[in-house]
Amino acid sequence: MEPTDWEKRIKELEKANLILREKLETSEAERSQLEALNQEKEFLLKTVTQKFIDSEKILKHRMSTLEKALSNQQAMQIKLIEAEKMSALGILVAGIAHEINNPVNFIYGNITYVNDYTGDILKLLEMYQNRYTETDAEIEDFLEKIDLNFLREDLLKTLSSMKVGSERIREIVLTLRNFARVDEAEKKPVNIHEGIDSTLLILQNLTKEKPGYPAIEIMKNYGNLPKIECYPGQLNQVFMNIINNAVDAVRDRDQKRSPIEIEANPSQMAITTSIISENWARISIKDNGLGMNEAVKGKIFDPFFTTKPVGHGTGLGLSISYQIVVDKHGGRLECISAVGEGTEFAIEIPIVAKPRS
Ligand SMILES: Nc1ncnc2c1ncn2[C@@H]1O[C@H](COP(=O)(O)OP(=O)(O)OP(=O)(O)O)[C@@H](O)[C@H]1O
Ligand SMILES: [Mg+2]
Repeated sequence: MEPTDWEKRIKELEKANLILREKLETSEAERSQLEALNQEKEFLLKTVTQKFIDSEKILKHRMSTLEKALSNQQAMQIKLIEAEKMSALGILVAGIAHEINNPVNFIYGNITYVNDYTGDILKLLEMYQNRYTETDAEIEDFLEKIDLNFLREDLLKTLSSMKVGSERIREIVLTLRNFARVDEAEKKPVNIHEGIDSTLLILQNLTKEKPGYPAIEIMKNYGNLPKIECYPGQLNQVFMNIINNAVDAVRDRDQKRSPIEIEANPSQMAITTSIISENWARISIKDNGLGMNEAVKGKIFDPFFTTKPVGHGTGLGLSISYQIVVDKHGGRLECISAVGEGTEFAIEIPIVAKPRS
C-alpha cells in the first residue's frame, strides 16, 4: 500500500474512532440518565409502598376504633333498653304496690280489733256458760254442731295466720315500693350500727332457737365508724335483705345436717364494720351457709332471680339492695361466695356523700 493510502486509512480509522467515542459518550450519558431515572422510580416506589403501609396501619386503627365504637354503642343500646324496661317495670310495680297498699293496711289494721273483739266475745260466752248452767236443748244441739271448743281454738289460730299473711303482703308491698324508688328522702348522717342492730332485732324471730335448731350465732365486730351520710331507711332495707338471705342460707344447710353436726359446727353470721380508706366504710355480712355456685352468683343481682321455692322469695331483695348501694349511695356491693364455703356480702359506701351529679 502507498503511504498516502495508509494515512488515508488511519484518518478514516481515527474518524470512526471519534464517532465510536462520541456514541460511547452518548450512550454513557443515556445510561447514567437511565440510572438516575431508575433511582428516582425506585425512590418513588419506596415512598408509595411506605405510604401504603402507613395508610394500611391507619385504616386498621380506624377499623378497630370503629369496631370499639360499635360495640360500645351496642352495649349502650342494651343498657338503654334495660333502663327503659326497668323504668316501665318500676312504674308498673309502683302502681300495683300503691293499689295494694291501702286495702292491705286496712285489713292489717283491723285484724288487731277483730282479734280483741273476738277475745271479748269468747270471754263473754264463757261468762254466760259459767253463770247460766241450765241447759237448753236447742243451744246444746247447736253447741255440739259447731264444736265450740274447736271453734274457739281455731278462730284464734285463723286470726293469727291472717295477721301473718297480711304482714307478709305489707312486706312485699314495701319491697315493691322500694324497688320502684317511690320513697325519696334526704340523706342524713346516721350511726350505721344502730341500723344493723334494729334490723337484727326485727329479724330476731328468724335467728332465734327453733325446734330442732339452735339459735344462729351472730358475731358483731363493729369498728369505730363515724356517722355515715345516707338514706337510713333504704340502707336498713339492704341490711334486712342480706341478713334475711344469710338466715335462709344457714337454715338450708341446717336442714341437710344432723343435730350432732349442727351442734358441732353451729350456724353463724359475722357482721364486721370498718373504715377502709379516707372516705369509705365497709360493712361485711358473712354466713357459713351453703354458698353459691358461679352460675347463681352471676345472676343474684338480676331482678326476680331466685332459687327459693315459690312463695318464699320474690327475687327482688338483692337487685333492690344493689340499686340502693350503687345508684343511690355511689357505693359498691360485692359478693364473695363458693359452694360449701359460705357467703360474704360487702357493702362499701362513702362516709360523706358525694354531691349528686
Ligand atoms: N347468703 C346467701 N347464700 C347463698 N345464696 C344466696 C345468699 N344470698 C342470696 N343468695 C342467692 O341469691 C338469690 C337472690 O337473692 P334475693 O335476695 O335477690 O332474692 P330471694 O332471697 O330469692 O327473694 P327475696 O326477694 O324474698 O329476697 C337467692 O334466691 C339465693 O339463691
Ligand atoms: Mg332475699
